[in-house]
Amino acid sequence: MKNIIFFLGKGGVGKTTSSVSMAYYLAEKEKSVYLASVDPAHNICDIVSEKPFTGCKNIYKKLYAEEIDVEGYLKDFTHQTTKRMKETYKYLQIINLDKMLDVMKYSPGMEEYAIMYALKEKIENNQDKDYIVIDTPPTGLMLKIFALPFTSKMWIEKLILWRRKIISARSAIANINPKAIDEELALEEEDDKVLKELGIQSKTINFMVNMLQDVKKTKTAIVLNQDLLSFNESKRIKEGLKFMGIPLNAVILNKKGMLDGTVDINEYFNDMPVFEVAFFKNGLLKKEDMIKACKSWVGGLIDE
Ligand SMILES: Nc1ncnc2c1ncn2[C@@H]1O[C@H](COP(=O)(O)OP(=O)(O)OP(=O)(O)O)[C@@H](O)[C@H]1O
Ligand SMILES: [Mg+2]
Repeated sequence: MKNIIFFLGKGGVGKTTSSVSMAYYLAEKEKSVYLASVDPAHNICDIVSEKPFTGCKNIYKKLYAEEIDVEGYLKDFTHQTTKRMKETYKYLQIINLDKMLDVMKYSPGMEEYAIMYALKEKIENNQDKDYIVIDTPPTGLMLKIFALPFTSKMWIEKLILWRRKIISARSAIANINPKAIDEELALEEEDDKVLKELGIQSKTINFMVNMLQDVKKTKTAIVLNQDLLSFNESKRIKEGLKFMGIPLNAVILNKKGMLDGTVDINEYFNDMPVFEVAFFKNGLLKKEDMIKACKSWVGGLIDE
């Protein structure tokens, strides 16, 4: 896999259109492409296919598209997590763990976690493609998904440390008085289910952090229109990405000419290429138009 490209921006600015355009462009150049949307409001289908489809579908030449089933992943994720946690902590009978875990699916952040795990799985499974293009949901949700591996990494590292201390203290107590420690509790790190679980989570999180910060592979573009709201949101994206150490490679000012906007984005984005795509009065949905429209900006994202 050469590059993974993310399109970010406010709702309705043209993220899906830009993602699909780039995917078509690359496919036209005989590249193999995996195009995925993690937007729960699926709409790649509407552009690339006459009929809705599920799973991964071959669209054009070596272009494969998929609307990632976020809802399905969320169900699967909560089910698997709950099952594993019940198993891991089954000795903890004092608290009503079953009930606590059953309400977990309503906890804040679960959707973001499910999307992060879905992304990780899809990216790993499509390493054989030349390019992976990701269409994202509007900014707020996407920045949270990007932030998740970074905050989780800090937590997991601390939890692993604390868990090791617990096991070491437990084993010290067992050395003095073996009866003081419940038989089910592990005395060695390699026997501890919780530590094992933390190790599994840590692997996923590190994969995501490394992938997102990989300046050679990961490319991101902000899509915006010539209006104050999408411009302000783009500023927040730029700040957010910078804070997380995620590369930002290009800005696409889409639908130029649609609004008599007076927003001057060049001053704020003076440290990266800003590309303009005209407003297509008859819409921008045809493959040929899309390929033409993105010719001016693809070079800002990939080395051809
Ligand atoms: N350059 C353009 N000229 C004309 N119409 C365009 C252009 N770019 C996008 N559009 C149209 O604008 C609408 C919104 O575009 P799109 O769905 O790509 O935005 P989005 O950022 O993905 O939106 P959402 O946040 O809802 O997913 C669509 O109808 C699309 O066809
Ligand atoms: Mg979209």
